[in-house]
Order: sequence, then C-alpha cells, then structure tokens
Amino acid sequence: MMKKFYIVFFVLALFTSCSKCKNGQSSIDCKVDSLLQLMTFEEKIGQLNQIDAGYVSPEIKAGITSGAIGSLLNCPAQNINEVQHLAVDSTRLGIPLLIARDVIHGYKTIFPIPLAQACSWDTAAVALCGKVSALEAIADGIKYTFTPMIDVTHDPRWGRIAEGYGEDSYLTSVMGVAMINGLQGSDLADGKHIAACAKHFAGYGLTESGRDYNVANTSEERLRNWILPPFKAAAEAGVATFMAGFNELNGVPVSGNKYLLKDILRNEWNYDGMVISDYFSIEQMFVENYTPTRGDAAREGINAGVDMDMMGHVYINHLDSLVKAGAVSMETIDNAVRNVLKLKFKLGLFDNPYIDDSNLGSTHYSPDALNASLKVAEESVVLVKNDSVLPLDASKVKRILITGPLANAPYEQMGTWCFDGDKTHSVTPLDAIKEQYGDRVDIVFEPALDFSRSTDLEGVERAVKAASKADVILAFVGEEAILSGEAKCRADISLPGVQNELIKKLADIGKSLVMVVMAGRPLTIGEQMEQSDATLIAFHGGTMAGKALSNIIFGESVPSGKLPVTFPKMVGQIPIYYNDYKTGRPADYRPTLLNEIPVEARQTSLGFCTYHLDAGVGPLMEFGYGLSYTTFEYSPVSLSKSEIVAGDTITASCTITNTGGYDGTEIVQLYIHDKFASLVRPVKELKGFKRVIIPKGESVTVEFPITAKDLSFYNNSSELVCEPGEFEVWIASSSGLNDNGKIFTLK
Ligand code: BGC
Repeated sequence: MMKKFYIVFFVLALFTSCSKCKNGQSSIDCKVDSLLQLMTFEEKIGQLNQIDAGYVSPEIKAGITSGAIGSLLNCPAQNINEVQHLAVDSTRLGIPLLIARDVIHGYKTIFPIPLAQACSWDTAAVALCGKVSALEAIADGIKYTFTPMIDVTHDPRWGRIAEGYGEDSYLTSVMGVAMINGLQGSDLADGKHIAACAKHFAGYGLTESGRDYNVANTSEERLRNWILPPFKAAAEAGVATFMAGFNELNGVPVSGNKYLLKDILRNEWNYDGMVISDYFSIEQMFVENYTPTRGDAAREGINAGVDMDMMGHVYINHLDSLVKAGAVSMETIDNAVRNVLKLKFKLGLFDNPYIDDSNLGSTHYSPDALNASLKVAEESVVLVKNDSVLPLDASKVKRILITGPLANAPYEQMGTWCFDGDKTHSVTPLDAIKEQYGDRVDIVFEPALDFSRSTDLEGVERAVKAASKADVILAFVGEEAILSGEAKCRADISLPGVQNELIKKLADIGKSLVMVVMAGRPLTIGEQMEQSDATLIAFHGGTMAGKALSNIIFGESVPSGKLPVTFPKMVGQIPIYYNDYKTGRPADYRPTLLNEIPVEARQTSLGFCTYHLDAGVGPLMEFGYGLSYTTFEYSPVSLSKSEIVAGDTITASCTITNTGGYDGTEIVQLYIHDKFASLVRPVKELKGFKRVIIPKGESVTVEFPITAKDLSFYNNSSELVCEPGEFEVWIASSSGLNDNGKIFTLK
C-alpha cells in the first residue's frame, strides 16, 4: 500500500514539476531532470548497471527490487512482464527496465549476415532488415539492440568481419545509417521500433593479425579517415546509443578512452545519446593491467563517458566509494543517469513497459518478414564467375547433383549472432530446388560431408560417384556458422575440412560444376574457382537463403550483388584492400615470379616494386566486383567542368548500356583519387554508388554530384582539409577498373 502511494506521489511530482519546465528544454529533458532530483545516489547507480538475465535468477529479481539494476540483456520473453512489474511496482520510483538483446541480422526471421547485406549495396534492403527485426523483437519486449556493428576491417581472418559491412568507410557509413533508420524509425515510442547501437567505438576492426580482442594501432589520419566516419554518420543519423569496445586503441582501452569518448564523441560531434560498455569491457581494463584495481577501471570508464556498465559490476560496486573519495564527480554520475533515463523516456517505457503475453510470437515469421528476408538474400548473392553455365534451364537439365556440407544445413545458413532464429523455418538450397524444380528435374542429393570441417573422404567418394551420373553439379561449400563471429578467428581462411578435395574431385569428372560459397568471411578459394565453371558467393544468407539461391541459379532472379570486401589470393596478402596508398614503387600488377627466378639471381635483376614474389600484387577478387547474367558497357566519364573552386559542385556522369540478354540491376560506383596532397592519398576511394535497373538493350545515364566534402580528408593534425590540385574520377563497375577516368582541377 505504502509503495503504491510512493509511486503515485512521485509520478505526480514528476509531471507537476514538468509543467514548470522552462528554458526551451524538451519535455523529455524536463522529465528526466525532475526524476533525477527525486533519486537517491543508490537509485542513480542502479540505473547504470546492466545485467545478463539469460536466466532470471532470484539474485537478479532481488537486484531489480532493490533498484540496483537499470537494464537487462537477454531476458527471455516469458519473463518480461514479471521483471518489469518488479521494477515498476516494487521500487520506490517505479523506473522500468531497459530490455536489450543482440538482434543483429534478424530476430526470428533471419536475414543475411551484415557482410552479405552489404553485397546488395542497397540501403533500402538493409533498412528493411532493421524494420522487420524491430517488429519481431519488440513483441517479445526487446526495446534495444546492439547493432549495427560499423567497425571497418581489412582482415578476413577476424571472425567479426561477418557482422560488419566490409572494408570501406563510405559503404559502411551508408549501410550503418540504413540499419539505424530501419530499427529506430522516426519515433522510438511507436511500438514498432527499437533503439540501435553504433558499435564498437572504435578501432576494434584493426585487431592485429585478425585475432579477436588483440591490440589495435593506427595513425590519426587512418583513424579519422577510415575508422571514425561510419560512427560520425551514425551519430548524425541520431543513433540512440554507442558501445565502447573491448580493444585498446594506440595503448588506451577504448572503454576508458577520453579522447574518443569525450573529445570526439561528445565534444566534437555533440553526441547526446547513451554510451554503453561492451560485456565486461570496463572491468577488463583491470584484467589487462591498465588499472591496478577494478575500482580504478570504474573510474576510467565513467570519467571517460561510458554511461552504462554491461555486466562488469564495477559501477555498482565502486562508484559509491569513488564519489566519496572525490575521484568521480556527482555531475558525472548525473550526466550518465540522465542519458539512461532519456532513452527510457524516448522508448515510451514509462508509458508502457509491458508486452502482450497472449500475443507472443504473433509477429514472428510472417509472410511479409519471410518475403523481406528472401528479397534481401537474393540481392546479397554475388556471381563471381560464370563460364556460360548459369542460369540453369530447368527444361534442359535432366539430372542435378546437389552436394556439399552447406546444401542442407538449416542452422548453418543462418550465420553467426543469431540467438533466436529457429532452424526449422530455414529453407535450404536442397529444400528450395526440390520444391521448385523437383517435378521437372531429377534431383540427387549426396552431401559428401556432414559439416564443413568434416574430413570424411568416403563421403567425398560417394558424391563423386553420384556426380558422374549428373549433368550439373551444385556444390554448396563454405563454413559453419560457428566459424565466424566473436572470437571465431581463423589463421587459415581456406575451405575447412576436405572441401577442397571435394571440389577438385568433382571438377575432375568434367561435368558442369557450380560452386556456391556460404561462409562468414572471404575465403581463399582461387583454385576452387578455377576448377568450377561458375561461382556464387552467398555468405550466410539467413532463413530464406536456399530459396534465394535457387531463384538465382535457375534465373528467376538475376544476380546483382557486388563484393564489399577484397578476397585475397593468400592469407599472406592480408591486410589487402582496394583503397591502399600510392607508394614510390607502385604496384604494376606484375605476375608472380617465384618459380621463374633463376637460382643465384642477382639482387638487382628482380625489379623493385611493391608486390609479393608468390602472390603478385592483385587480390583474388577486388572490392566492388560482381557479375550479372547480362553485361553492362560503360561510356567514358564526362565532367560538367574541368576546373572548380571550393564550394562548387562538379557533376560526373556516365552512360551504362545493358548489352546482354537479361534485364539487370547494376551497381554503379564512383571513385576519386586525390593526385597531389599534403599527405599521400589512397589510390582511389569510393565516394558514391547507385543501384540502377537497366532493361536489356537500354541505356541509363548516371550522374554523381561531387562537392568539397568528397574531396576532403583529415590530416595528421585531425583537421579536415580540402586541398587544391588535380583529382581523378572513375565511374566503374568495380574498384579494379581504371580505364575511363577523367581529371579535374580544384583551384
Ligand atoms: C560483444 C557485443 C555484444 C555484447 C552483448 C559482446 O561480447 O562484443 O558486440 O553486443 O557481447 O551480447
């Protein structure tokens, strides 16, 4: 009875005080300030504490009731109303909990992994994933997700490459913003959208040798030009939260990094959302000997501006004594609490923190969600080789062998970071091809290997035997889901197990061989591509991956994806990326020389340029590369002017003609090279792209306005500069093409 009285009293007090709000404060800021005034120190610290509630233990319930927990992650849907009632009815102020979960590429209906989504170069597709994910998750009480991961990386060994949008800052920025918009919509309280999180701020993707949690070092120039732009774009797009990562950057752990979190995020970018740590990442500053005690780690975290401690227990255990000792100010605590409460108000949690228990699951796997997942999966497939094999004509092919460990692996095709997808909803390639074409084509299934790491050579022999009786072989190879994602790094990124043997033996039979790669990262598959007649890169395509692939293989859908990441020939080439820097000994794409060098060759006879003796200099496949069933021809680039001054816009345009036999979608890419600058600049940088639908036989002219923003870069003094000089512009179908460039001068 007393408790109810308190709640009514405080809620009334809150709204009465709000009506007095002045000074142009928004109504949410006003409510937050009023609530803050009512809170005890313990209640404040409780709001900064996030706990993993995968199992809602009696301790967690007691923590909620005592006000020591402000947020839960991983709370099961069936416990949501119970925990929210504990928070609202049993605490003095009735502040609801912020319920979070990793909804990374779909909640129940799984979409392609983010790396695959980036292959679509389609912001609408990525936003659709966000929108559907939010709708499915919110029905289970999830109001906050830790996505998008916008860590640019150049290292396919790193398992978390699967979770991001590839190697390029610009592409990652636009994809990240699309995901944020899809998840958040325009109103976080509309019951259809949830809060997003820009993670992991910053530099996590630089992890040395692609080994997760390893050190990350970079220059100011690279930090500003490569790593930070997607985060800046996310802040500008209004992302509700940021997550500080596990890594240190240039020696300072990012979860206690004042330069990143205060100077850049808060002061330069004026970011006013909530900042959360990664799982135990504040406490880890103690583990990595950056701070002598856990209390010192808490001090570094809160003073750097991390508002909420995910699972580390260091804020709840140490902030009291730190404030008493004067090591942390009350203003710092209040600012952190303010950011947490603001988010809770924005999410409408104070109005209704509960879910409709009777309705659990009603938004899951809806036809709309499954169609959306299918559309995105189709757009995510990249055709990288086709010796006139694809698309298959179901009226001509008599017998198809479907083989490989990913051909019928409903769990694996969902990929990493999908806690909630149910594999029974997955449509595998085998399911889809049988269903769509089984009445017309004799479909034989012999998986060869039960899982990607299998070394079952007898299975390989079975597949080879079956292949000899087929006209076409479809080999679905790749990685199981668990081989990519957090802490799932590989030093050898070839096909695992005996899949290389499988491809070689299938190729030796001499039948048409289509290799479909379903993996969480780029793999070194050069030999296997040579042995195949056609290759599709599908990564892990989610619930509808099989149907998407079937549609593409049989030409119901024409492939349009392009790679968002470079595929190396060999691991030793890593890091390898398209926008590397011009050197004084430029790469001249010379072939590998290792076997041609005479014994005792003289030092000077080899020529001196930047390349590997055994790998040459180019990648297996470059950023932006991807084929279609049709062909596109690009005209030379036209520029609207040859000279501009700062503030002008120059328009680059190009006419693209569909010269093949299918209607198709082409991803037209704009690259610019700054020829002379105060710092050596990348050989080219992506500055824009457009997805254009071009019916067969028709042409489309694509225009890209170029402004000073596209010509600017950060120098080593962190200044954004736009320097006069010459710029070369290409409009091309991939980063590897250099033949239609045009030069203009910035005066
Ligand atoms: C990961 C984050 C994730 C968090 C919560 C951490 O291990 O690095 O990306 O959001 O766990 O599950």
